[in-house]
Amino acid sequence: METKVTTSIKEAADVIRGGGLVAFPTETVYGLGANTFDEAAVSKIFVAKMRPADNPLIIHIFDVAELSELVKEVNSTARSLIEKYFPGPLTIVLEASDKVPDNVTAGLRTVAVRMPGNPVARDFLKECGVPVAAPSANLSGRPSPTTWEAVLEDMNGRIECILRGDPTEIGLESTVIDCTGEVPILLRPGAISLDQLRYTYPAMRAFELSENITSRSPGMRHTHYSPRAKVMLVGSDITGDLVPGQAYIGIDIPEQVFRLARICNDVAGYGRELFEFFRECDRAGIEIIYCQTVPEEGFGRALMDRLRRAAE
Ligand code: TXA
Ligand code: MG
Repeated sequence: METKVTTSIKEAADVIRGGGLVAFPTETVYGLGANTFDEAAVSKIFVAKMRPADNPLIIHIFDVAELSELVKEVNSTARSLIEKYFPGPLTIVLEASDKVPDNVTAGLRTVAVRMPGNPVARDFLKECGVPVAAPSANLSGRPSPTTWEAVLEDMNGRIECILRGDPTEIGLESTVIDCTGEVPILLRPGAISLDQLRYTYPAMRAFELSENITSRSPGMRHTHYSPRAKVMLVGSDITGDLVPGQAYIGIDIPEQVFRLARICNDVAGYGRELFEFFRECDRAGIEIIYCQTVPEEGFGRALMDRLRRAAE
């Protein structure tokens, strides 16, 4: 199949309505979308990404009214999160309605929904006229794509269309919150941070790996965000014997000389550039990427989560 790269919202939405797959930009990372209610189209996402069938998808909506078809009930926790953070880099998990196909939820009784704030994503979702189920638009196990070129690198010949937009502003995937219980649980840290959320929901807590992973967040079992190169986490003062000719990304300038180095302005810049830097290192045949650790506060928690997973 030929993968068409377009900037036409109309052309991309036509592909969705026709049962095809479209990669599109959001403020977090590029997503790979299909019509949520077209089970056959959704199943093509799993083939294109080589994604395990037990890892559910996030449904992307344009309007809050679409929720009524997707979830059983919008409880008070969900309602207040929606008011505060939709549209934005936040995903909420609620009990799924019977209308949502099983392959979207991977057979779970819950469903993840988000309303992206990126203007291109919003125009696209509006034009599609249906909720769009979409995981990140990378091959399973690779870093999420933050540019349309990275999508093409993984998906050329595997999907119908790429809606071409700018590099994503945030660069790490959305914050995921389970709203099904009495206390909201943070399943995946993101740009809307736990510290920020706790101002409004003091009881909110992060999901512990010792809890029942299968039912809470299937994606957490799968390896994620990994470049081919080995990722090593280092502090600000890099000491010891570094292998020469390798790569570094961080905020502080290291004393050592690296073949590839990326110095970021701050934690937000580091998060924005991380996944693309991983891909750049893979293209250059780098074997080890040294990544500076950051304090686990605010956005730093999301960044450290991704760094740790990549280093596993
Ligand atoms: O920022 C994002 O969220 C991007 C853009 C494209 O929206 N999407 C994204 O999708 O990162 P994906 O599939 O790569 O990650 C979705 C995560 C997975 O960890 C998955 O297991 C979890 O959300 N998830 C989906 N449905 C769930 C559910 N019903 N319960 C718990 N976790 C769920
Ligand atoms: Mg993903």
